[in-house]
Amino acid sequence: MTQRRELDNYSDEIQSLKKRHAQEVDEYEAGLRKKDREMRELREDLRVAQSDLERERETVTSLRATISSQSTAQLTLATQKNVLQAQCDAVQASLDAATATISQLQLDLESSRKRIAELEQDAREAEGVRRKLHNMVQELKGNIRVFCRVRPILPKEATASIAYPDRRDHKEIVLSSSSESATGQERKEVWNFSFDRVFEPDSTQAEVFEEVSQLAQSCVDGYNVCIFAYGQTGSGKSFTMEGGPTESTAGMIPRAVEQVFSVAEELKSKGWEYKMEGQFLEIYNETINDLLGKDEFDKKKHEIKHDKSGTRVTDIVTIPLRSATQVRSLLAIAQSRRTVAATLMNERSSRSHSVFTLKIQGNNTHTGETCDGSLNLVDLAGSERLKESGAANDKDRLKETQSINKSLSALGDVIAALGEKGEKGEKHIPYRNSKLTYLLQNSLSGNSKTLMILNVSPLAVHLGESLCSLRFATKVNNTTIGTAKKQTRSAS
Ligand SMILES: Nc1ncnc2c1ncn2[C@@H]1O[C@H](COP(=O)(O)OP(=O)(O)OP(=O)(O)O)[C@@H](O)[C@H]1O
Ligand SMILES: [Mg+2]
Repeated sequence: MTQRRELDNYSDEIQSLKKRHAQEVDEYEAGLRKKDREMRELREDLRVAQSDLERERETVTSLRATISSQSTAQLTLATQKNVLQAQCDAVQASLDAATATISQLQLDLESSRKRIAELEQDAREAEGVRRKLHNMVQELKGNIRVFCRVRPILPKEATASIAYPDRRDHKEIVLSSSSESATGQERKEVWNFSFDRVFEPDSTQAEVFEEVSQLAQSCVDGYNVCIFAYGQTGSGKSFTMEGGPTESTAGMIPRAVEQVFSVAEELKSKGWEYKMEGQFLEIYNETINDLLGKDEFDKKKHEIKHDKSGTRVTDIVTIPLRSATQVRSLLAIAQSRRTVAATLMNERSSRSHSVFTLKIQGNNTHTGETCDGSLNLVDLAGSERLKESGAANDKDRLKETQSINKSLSALGDVIAALGEKGEKGEKHIPYRNSKLTYLLQNSLSGNSKTLMILNVSPLAVHLGESLCSLRFATKVNNTTIGTAKKQTRSAS
């Protein structure tokens, strides 16, 4: 029994051992499976790691390649940089040199500018001095001056006895006539006259203009200038003022205008800019006609107005002048208008006064100075006396001659009164006595200069008329002495 029990016990023990063993085997197998799984996982991990490693290696290889190429590039760049730096240094050096040159040039420029300004200032001052001196010379010569010009003899004309004794200064003219007295004795009469200048028959337009040109200069300087041609019909007034068609026969009007233009051009460099305009009118029987007008001649009424801006004629055509040559066409227009009028009234141009006016306005852009001048060139009507013109019986002719006489004597009176004013101070000047003097009022007073060219006929038949003209001109010329004296006195 005991054995049996022992056997049973052993059997139980074996049974439990077997159970435990089976359990341990199970556990072991489970552990084995787990290990197996873990190993598989590790293997997978390893594989992944290996492939990662492989990739990384590739990356490293490519990076190494990149690095090596980059370092080559960097080397090249460094070399290039060095070259550029060297170039840059060179450029900087030349820039520095250029800057230095520029500042030197600026200094030079500045001093040159100063010098130019000084020179310009000098030139302007010199121009001012020139103006003053020119005016002084003009005033010493007299603000009213008279020239006498004897025209040449035309074919088949009988000449009067005229002598020119002053061979040096050309200031004298002597007329003489011889006649038989009742007792059969020869009687010789001699008349002496002297003027600022006497031009003999062979004088040229250029010679006459040489004396006139200084007045053209004055009008550019801002003075009012009047030049009159006085004399009997056929004595050469129109020839003197307008002249012929050729260069050498051109008269005072075209020459003066040309001179004014060239002086204005010269003064441009001294800062002067000029504006010029011209008008051309006729005074016939105390009425004004526009010689440059477009409408029918004689139809428009023109009035003379004086105001602050100067003298103005209403409704008159004023033409801006841009060149000296333009004046020739203006003279031609005036001529053709007069020719039309001449068919209505004979010898129109010798029975009327024609007044060409050139107005000059200048301003100096540097100094701000301005000046206003005018040049009046007047071709007066024939000065012959009534009986000479054979007009006493003709009503129209009588009226013409009376208006001419009236205006010419008004002109003489004005000039004489101006001379007396010069000597005695304030005096009434009778400008209003004729259209001519009223029109030229501003140009016959104050800042004005007057020249009368007395045209004389050389003919024997005109001796009486010539003497009249010479006496009239002498009256005007005496005025000169007054003015000239005044200047000498104020100068001393
Ligand atoms: N210096 C001169 N040289 C040459 N010819 C001249 C000169 N002066 C005048 N003549 C001639 O004499 C003639 C008369 O001159 P002009 O017509 O100028 O006189 P005028 O004084 O104007 O006369 P009017 O009062 O009739 O107008 C013209 O044929 C002109 O060409
Ligand atoms: Mg004439």
